[in-house]
Amino acid sequence: MKQKKFWKLIFCGVAVLLLSACAKTQTGDASRIYVGISCYDQTDVFIKELVTSFEGELKRNGDNKDISTLVTTRDAADSQRRQNTQVKELIDAGCNVLLVNLVDRTDSSEIIELAKKKKIPVIFFNREPVTEDLKQWNKLYYVGGNAKESGVMQGELAADFIRGNNDVDRNRDGKIQYVVLEGEPGHQDAIIRTEEAVNTLKASGIKLEKLGYGVANWNRSQAQNRMLQLINQYQNKIELVLSNNDDMALGGIDAYAKLNRTESSIPVFFGIDGTDEGLVAVKQGLLAGTVYNDKEGQAKKMADLVMMLETNDNSEKDSRFTQQNYLPYAKITKENVADYQSTSSSSR
Ligand code: GAL
Ligand code: CA
Repeated sequence: MKQKKFWKLIFCGVAVLLLSACAKTQTGDASRIYVGISCYDQTDVFIKELVTSFEGELKRNGDNKDISTLVTTRDAADSQRRQNTQVKELIDAGCNVLLVNLVDRTDSSEIIELAKKKKIPVIFFNREPVTEDLKQWNKLYYVGGNAKESGVMQGELAADFIRGNNDVDRNRDGKIQYVVLEGEPGHQDAIIRTEEAVNTLKASGIKLEKLGYGVANWNRSQAQNRMLQLINQYQNKIELVLSNNDDMALGGIDAYAKLNRTESSIPVFFGIDGTDEGLVAVKQGLLAGTVYNDKEGQAKKMADLVMMLETNDNSEKDSRFTQQNYLPYAKITKENVADYQSTSSSSR
């Protein structure tokens, strides 16, 4: 009888130890965190800067908690199939958390299924999955900006500038002739930014006339080509260029430089992002303004989320995070651009 009791006790003790060991790995008693990133296109300037910023933030978080961090970044080169394979490989390689910059926002199901099966949390960033997909599991997150806000701010910047500078209306017809350089069709940041910028300008009493647009997929050299076509078509009628991002605005400016146009026939340009080169262009007055897509804030949010998921016992209950996390944008002109240049470089 006594012996039986003894073995019972030993058995219970071992069971408790095993259970608590399991609980520890599940709640993430991490000494090392391995993060796998897959980008839709690693040549995208904003994405490159965002990922660099994330790496810095994650290392800082790790150093603060004596946790070593490791990051592997893969480039999906614009193929959703390739991205699905990469995600599988990253999971097989032992990643604890995935950061996914979807190629196709509407096609996240295969990635979600894979991750859920292996219980690997996913932080989607910059390219927003549809909400129904995100609701499939409570370890799926999104970090990005609020597209509507960026469009409104671009419209406000343009309206202020036009009101303060009569010569934007070069032909003095009381209307501003404009063109739009558009990002990828289907991207949450393309159509909404254009619509909101134009509506904001109209609501502020500026008379507009749309001449045309060019789709340039966020890309500088594609934008240069589209702009050359638009200039060919509309000659010096173009007074304003609203670009869905900085890199395309810079491509548009390149087109005028290539044609050796004099300053008096170059329209005013507005971008969005505040990339390193975008900020330089604002400082030089080539870009009249841009809207800051807060890559430092987004990177910090993602790095904090990684730490919370891997080290916090009550991850779902951490009130700093919801499944969808939107960071605010900010307006940048020549007056405040220096503040952003220091933010950008100090976090690198
Ligand atoms: C946008 C950004 C663009 C481009 C795009 C990629 O938020 O403004 O420059 O990086 O994301 O998804
Ligand atoms: Ca005009």
